Amino acid sequence: MTKKAAAVAPVLVRHVIWLGWKLVVFLSFALCFIALLRLHFSPDISSPTNSLSRTRWRSRIPRYNFDGPPKIAFLFLARLNLPLDFLWGSFFENADAANFSIYIHSAPGFVFDETTSRSHFFYNRQLTDSIQVAWGESTMIEAERLLLATALQDPANQRFVLLSDSCVPLYNFSYIYRYLMASSRSFVDSFLDLKDGRYHPKMAPVIPRHKWRKGSQWISLIRSHAEVVVDDEVVLPVFKKFCKRRPAVDTSKGKLNLKLQKQHNCIPDEHYVPTLIAMSELEGDIERRTLTYTLWNQSATKMDNKAWHPVTFNYADASPKRLKEIKDINHVHYESEARTEWCQTNSIFVPCFLFARKFSRGAAMRLLSEGVVGPFDASSLLGNS
Ligand SMILES: *[C@@H]1O[C@H](CO)[C@@H](O)[C@H](O)[C@H]1NC(C)=O
Ligand SMILES: *[C@@H]1O[C@H](CO)[C@@H](O)[C@H](O)[C@H]1NC(C)=O
Ligand SMILES: *[C@@H]1O[C@H](CO)[C@@H](O)[C@H](O)[C@H]1NC(C)=O
Repeated sequence: MTKKAAAVAPVLVRHVIWLGWKLVVFLSFALCFIALLRLHFSPDISSPTNSLSRTRWRSRIPRYNFDGPPKIAFLFLARLNLPLDFLWGSFFENADAANFSIYIHSAPGFVFDETTSRSHFFYNRQLTDSIQVAWGESTMIEAERLLLATALQDPANQRFVLLSDSCVPLYNFSYIYRYLMASSRSFVDSFLDLKDGRYHPKMAPVIPRHKWRKGSQWISLIRSHAEVVVDDEVVLPVFKKFCKRRPAVDTSKGKLNLKLQKQHNCIPDEHYVPTLIAMSELEGDIERRTLTYTLWNQSATKMDNKAWHPVTFNYADASPKRLKEIKDINHVHYESEARTEWCQTNSIFVPCFLFARKFSRGAAMRLLSEGVVGPFDASSLLGNS
């Protein structure tokens, strides 16, 4: 009896312990799962105290109501003229005039007319208050803001696409129009990359480190986000002060080079808009990717200061096959965040890219003759069509 009881007791104890273990294991799994869910569904990992309160962004731009089709504002950042104007001219030829507007920021005093442009769409579309831009410096973001501010004056402008003078469209106008209008979000390439060392500790507390973002300069904004950029009086001054490009190696300066190369290096246009969007708690309202394809030459040397350079497409590189490969890209991988963006607008999977850079004239000529932006019309090359 006692023997039996003694035999039963350990069995019971073992049973209880076993049950207990099962409970512990189950509970740990449950906790892990809940934690994962919370991580997944809280896009904002920051504390609200560090964010700019929305009320501070009181727009200076009057709000209008407008009737009629919404327009895309094409904002060109040019060094001087637009070398690919013949391709864009043909692109706009296949649009409805009521569906778009054009603004160009070029060197101060440079006028777009018959003598400087092969497409009438660009005549007198330059800003009259443009500034001298130094590539990679904060004048670049000031030029972007000038373009946005000017385009905001037309209440019909609802999408704002920033383009360089070497950008090409990969589709015809109606495709690009539908793509952009189908989404109520901005397209802003934005990711965390603290390894690059561009963040300057003195930017805190205005720009906290966890709000620092990096991303392509080539953005597409919805109207309310364009207003946020134009109204910003908080982040821009900090950028002007602490986000400066390190000067390029200049051998004539000899030993001074060493000192120059130790200077903090920051490229304002690769950080300003994504950081501002993050600080304004608007990351939930953007697609975190760019619409403009760039091919990076990863073999460039470290001595070039910027390790990577965009590759320029020439005639031979702009074959229909190569173009199709770019248009077929449907996801982008962000290594620093281990994030893969499956490109979509309005929850529908779409090609990632609408535009590409950098294209030479020859490459753009090839796109034109391949009918990329519309039926090829040789007379469009004669200008003033
Ligand atoms: C524009 O391009 C799309 C897709 O490439 C095509 O289906 C459509 O027919 C084109 N529209 C015009 C007006 O050429
Ligand atoms: C112009 O806009 C209207 C209204 O949004 C749209 O129906 C039409 O397709 C657009 N035209 C082109 C060429 O995209
Ligand atoms: C990439 O960069 C290297 C070094 O700067 C250069 O020699 C090469 O031609 C570049 N490749 C392309 C495709 O531009």
